[in-house]
Amino acid sequence: MKRFITASLLSTIAMLSLQAQEAPVTMEVDLSRPIAQADDRMYGVFFEDINFGADGGLYAELVKNRSFEFPQHLAGWMPFGQVSVESASPCFERNPHYVRIVSHGELTGSGLENEGFRGIGLKRGATYRFRVYARCPKDQSVPVNVELIGSNGATLCRQTLHVSSSDWKAYELTFESPATEAHARLRVVMRQSGTVDLEHLSLFPTDTWKGRPGGLRRDLVEALRDLHPGVLRFPGGCVVEGNSLATRYQWKNTLGRVENRPTNENRWNYTFKDRAFPDYFQSYGLGFYEFFQLCEDIGARPLPILSVGLSCQYESHEQVCLDSLQPYIQDALDLIEFANGPASSRWGKVRAEMGHPAPFGLEFIGIGNEQWGPEYVERLELFIRAIRRSWPDVKIVGSSGPSADGDKFDYLWPEMKRLKADLVDEHYYMEPEWFLRNASRYDHYDRRGPKVFAGEYAAHDHSAGKANNFRAALAEAAFMTGLERNADVVRLATYAPLFAHVDAWQWNPDLIWFDNLRSFRTPNYYVQQLFALHAHSQIMRIATPDGQPLTGQNDLYASASRDAQTGTTVLKIVNTAHHPSSIAIRFNGSRRHPSQGVCTFLQADDLNVVNDFDQERIAPHTMPVRVDADGVLRMELPANFFGVFELH
Ligand code: AHR
Repeated sequence: MKRFITASLLSTIAMLSLQAQEAPVTMEVDLSRPIAQADDRMYGVFFEDINFGADGGLYAELVKNRSFEFPQHLAGWMPFGQVSVESASPCFERNPHYVRIVSHGELTGSGLENEGFRGIGLKRGATYRFRVYARCPKDQSVPVNVELIGSNGATLCRQTLHVSSSDWKAYELTFESPATEAHARLRVVMRQSGTVDLEHLSLFPTDTWKGRPGGLRRDLVEALRDLHPGVLRFPGGCVVEGNSLATRYQWKNTLGRVENRPTNENRWNYTFKDRAFPDYFQSYGLGFYEFFQLCEDIGARPLPILSVGLSCQYESHEQVCLDSLQPYIQDALDLIEFANGPASSRWGKVRAEMGHPAPFGLEFIGIGNEQWGPEYVERLELFIRAIRRSWPDVKIVGSSGPSADGDKFDYLWPEMKRLKADLVDEHYYMEPEWFLRNASRYDHYDRRGPKVFAGEYAAHDHSAGKANNFRAALAEAAFMTGLERNADVVRLATYAPLFAHVDAWQWNPDLIWFDNLRSFRTPNYYVQQLFALHAHSQIMRIATPDGQPLTGQNDLYASASRDAQTGTTVLKIVNTAHHPSSIAIRFNGSRRHPSQGVCTFLQADDLNVVNDFDQERIAPHTMPVRVDADGVLRMELPANFFGVFELH
């Protein structure tokens, strides 16, 4: 969303200009020919189920532990009266537990309440679909009340289900909420005598993304869509590895009907002792089919990461022996077939049966997350050999370990070259100053080997509690001009992580924050959005008069590109100085220079500023810009400024 610059902001900028340094800093843009060809969808995001990002977040299910498969089967539920957990003749073989409620007509009733994910969010006038599988073991008809309860304990709505069969059957009710509540509960209660078995109790808003039953939270998908990500890395991250091989992410468990997708632990449940969430599990309601579908919906290319047969190397030494690795390799081959195979192939058929006969067009696959050492390389080599043989067009991403440099990194890069990985995944969660210093990181990278995929990165401003503040966002923008200038070698970049629930996060900063009803976009979000909206395949030279790229001289950073369709020249310029800077940009190499255009920018005098639910203090504004008749764009850049100049 662009906002046109207001009169008061313009006058602030004008005022600041008066204080600008005197001699303008000159930059030269060479319009004669591109210096590099970029992937024009190079900017994207990394989505992992961390911070309640999937369960409790993007996946719109409102009931936690809906299948009673958490290790404490009633976690998230408060039973009352006579309630037991059973597993004899289950409804779903991979989620065998269900509850049996017995009532003898006592005044107390028998039943249970679900607390949702830090409460259940309800919006006044919105409708919610409740689904359950039920049977009456004694074959009599039993009335069961289903109620939505407000945070003050009052019943907001109530309906009655009449369960009448001794076989498992699905039942459905639709509720319209009379009130807006961020912390409602779901109650199921029997007040008359009888016995009932209940399984997979589910409550979804009907207003999901694209109205899909059991779908994704609409506001969060819209935020993702508005980001225009060119690529979506998924599902991890550490959840790919698991803290044990048994708990690694297994994509095949995420297919088919959601009722039968087995629950897995989420390692973010207990990874950080000071932010432990014992109620964090993965339902896989948002699984690989939904991931591919989401990518298709928002125009992002999927980039799945799979287990290489090593569990998290920080936490465990568990490895699959080389001679037992074949099932893991087969998983990777099958995933590609699931995405790209014809509907007649084994896994293409599964995709078609789930509703998508056409292939999803998978271009990339990553093997291993933050892995390291010879144990990684020898396993990756076997994957590469097998994937090349069956799917030679799919680009393979290898890892450079968990950090931006050091022994692991130095060992892995030459190995990735030797194995001819197509892309090497680099991760850096560093201080804003690191991002500024590293704007030139890729200027001298080897152009002949594998390309770079900046697969996880974010500026962590430790001095501000790692807030999503403007200091971090500006440093990321400065760094990203370096990615763009080197887009011939840096092919893809995905900010990380994507989503965080304000009441249930483990990791910050994150791109989009939400609660049970609302969401907001961070300054970092808008940096990513501006880069993604203005990604072009033709990278042009922008440099100092002596030909140096702008990597922090006079606190300025810059990149340039050209839209091949429209001929528009696009400059991205960051001023990290705390004072306005006078600049003069000269356009060379063409008889015709741009004459005017528009600048979309982010600016704040206070680098500590953050966005929140009530106010987006940092959001894009626009202002017109003019190039003088002599082909020079002269202006005062405000302090702490990131602008995208579209020049026609
Ligand atoms: O993005 C959060 C975590 O950071 C990822 O799961 C992991 O790959 C990295 O260490």
